[in-house]
Amino acid sequence: MYARIAGTGSYLPERILTNAELETLVDTSDQWIRDRTGIAERRIAAEGQTTCDLAEQAALRAMEAAGVKPADIDLLIVGTTTPDLVFPSTACLLQHRLGLGDCGAFDINAACSGFIYALSTADQFIRAGTARTALVVGAETLTRMLDWGDRSTCVLFGDGAGAAVLVADEQPGILSTHIHANGGYADLLGTDVGVSKGFKAEERGGVRVSMRGNEVFKVAVNTLGRIVDETLAANQMQKSDIDWLIPHQANLRIIKATARKLQMSMEQVIVTVDRHGNTSAASVPLALDEAIRSGRVKRGERLLLEAFGGGFTWGAALIAY
Ligand code: COA
Repeated sequence: MYARIAGTGSYLPERILTNAELETLVDTSDQWIRDRTGIAERRIAAEGQTTCDLAEQAALRAMEAAGVKPADIDLLIVGTTTPDLVFPSTACLLQHRLGLGDCGAFDINAACSGFIYALSTADQFIRAGTARTALVVGAETLTRMLDWGDRSTCVLFGDGAGAAVLVADEQPGILSTHIHANGGYADLLGTDVGVSKGFKAEERGGVRVSMRGNEVFKVAVNTLGRIVDETLAANQMQKSDIDWLIPHQANLRIIKATARKLQMSMEQVIVTVDRHGNTSAASVPLALDEAIRSGRVKRGERLLLEAFGGGFTWGAALIAY
């Protein structure tokens, strides 16, 4: 039994924040941001608009595309690092909004790899026969945790959500998923506040993302190269067997390095980072949905999804779409 992608959906908040506007906040330039990251603009959630609000719109679109009703869904997983609340989980809030009944619903926090982790988990449930129709979401409002005075991070991130409905099918389907983590890199990317450690916002400047970007960059490029090799080897495939690379959208230079590793032309790579920035767990499903809805990715093609994020976490999924 395989988990097949029956439909995808995504949602972006309306407000666009351009590089030109960031020039008025910090000592940066449109040119620097474009050259170093490939980002031109990103979306920012409206005041009061939460991760669950974004997730709901993406999920509704995915369910409509898949032609499934709320009652059909028997598993809901949300990848997010920016839940509405500490608890209930965003998945529980979303389950209620969508009227899904009492299916299992939980969040996964794997930072930018959250959607790949969620997809991998749902795939195991479907392969094991314990779920037949899973809704998998990646949704974030990461701009809520940015220090708008820190030019090394505030120019990078955006908000959004993406979703996919997976159905059990004898035809492939997700061919394999691969997830990894190494907590030894926690100092390079993360926050130093939390529930148990204490927020103490006044002492630590609030919940802020801190990052040693240059070091993250190097580890990301190496690690993504390795996960591509691992995924191809697990499926006894060659680089030329992949039709599309749908990567995490953190930085165009990281995306290009992975494409080079796969000997793929940029024509075969889905890029949204220019318009979305890094939307963390939402970035891969946003790119996947755009690729499918634009008609670029077609049924029968092979897709390689990959992501890398805080933790560090990383993962990949090979999909016969
Ligand atoms: N505008 C202008 N200058 C900036 C800047 C900005 N927004 N941010 C940093 N700089 C400056 C730095 O202060 C530094 O100046 P200095 O040389 O005077 O010290 C210079 O630019 C180079 O900084 P560096 O960090 O070496 O640049 P970089 O080429 O590595 O690019 C990133 C920075 C953040 C774009 C890049 O490292 C990156 O994308 N890293 C990965 C981040 C990532 O993907 N994180 C999420 C993983 S999921």
